[in-house]
Amino acid sequence: MSEVTLTVNGREVTRDVEDRTLLSTFLRETLGLTGTHVGCDTSQCGACTVHIDGRAVKSCTVLAAQVAGGEVVTIEGLASGEELHPMQAAFRENHGLQCGFCTPGMIMMAVEIANRHPGGLDEDTIRKELEGNICRCTGYHNIVKSIDAGAKAMG
Ligand code: FES
Ligand code: FES
Repeated sequence: MSEVTLTVNGREVTRDVEDRTLLSTFLRETLGLTGTHVGCDTSQCGACTVHIDGRAVKSCTVLAAQVAGGEVVTIEGLASGEELHPMQAAFRENHGLQCGFCTPGMIMMAVEIANRHPGGLDEDTIRKELEGNICRCTGYHNIVKSIDAGAKAMG
């Protein structure tokens, strides 16, 4: 057990955590941020994707203690108050989800994809970048459309 301090969605938090605690477990069970979903726990599905120091990371692949001193953003931290992040709004407008289970991870990944391609995105690039995020419902078509629209809205 060790004391860990990190910033989550702009707020500094300090908690005692067992050394084996995954970041995904810490976010969901210790902080109650259940928007980060756990679909597999084996690094396959991407439902648990969050941002750590600005990069999209599968939170089931990282120990909470490893993120000490770092900055984590989850899906709960993306909107500005009542105003959705442009990528969230694009998913809503383009029907980029069905059951919604994969959606938090998809959106966190999508924001990073858009940030890494400031010159613009094409469909092939979006599909390739999404290789680590699995959706069992949508067939991906509207997710790709949403990311394209969200990236444009992010400028
Ligand atoms: Fe982390 Fe599936 S729960 S990749
Ligand atoms: Fe159901 Fe993607 S919307 S898993």
